[in-house]
Amino acid sequence: MEIKKIGVYVGSLRKESFSKKTAKVLAQMAPSSIELEIVDLADLEMFNQDFDDGGRTPVSWTNFRERTGKFDAFLFVTPEYNRSVPAVLKNAIDIGSRPYGHSVWNGKPAAVISVSPGLLGGFGANNHLRQTLMFLNIAVMAQPEAYIANAATLFDEKGALINDNSREFLQKFMDSFEEWVNTHSLIR
Ligand code: FNR
Repeated sequence: MEIKKIGVYVGSLRKESFSKKTAKVLAQMAPSSIELEIVDLADLEMFNQDFDDGGRTPVSWTNFRERTGKFDAFLFVTPEYNRSVPAVLKNAIDIGSRPYGHSVWNGKPAAVISVSPGLLGGFGANNHLRQTLMFLNIAVMAQPEAYIANAATLFDEKGALINDNSREFLQKFMDSFEEWVNTHSLIR
């Protein structure tokens, strides 16, 4: 069986980030035909088209584009900042989308999960992110939607998930994602 490699992009650099904890739990839950790899976004310079135009593309961008281009699919785990996507994640997506005509996201499957200590589970960020991903011709899984609310209550001090309902839901989400990846690959 071919194992599909999934790049995981987390919109928080915070050490104790609930989104990072969620991503790590999801990586452990991955069904047998997919493997998750979290991509560190901390060292990506802020996007500026002049760098590409002037032949001064930062090494961090080149490495990011090369690595991202090799994944079979993507999983985006995002917090919500002011009802939208945190800059660190949007910056990574913008970097991967350029130079024009060379987007590394094009035509691949993906899923979105938003995480918040609040009650709405990052609904605003989730849906803003979907809008961007659709524009980039990414095949975003429609269902199940994943809005993880009350995130501060879900993990113990070691980052293990302590809520059974959430575990059940996240497993269902990953099972659906596996099916999505295996039926929507290479739609370019
Ligand atoms: C937030 N937070 C937040 N939460 C939310 O549910 N909706 C929102 O619009 C915002 N806005 C917001 C803006 C900024 C600048 C910050 C720093 C925070 C709170 C946010 O959900 C909380 O800090 C999370 O813990 C951030 O995610 P990580 O780092 O835990 O993954």
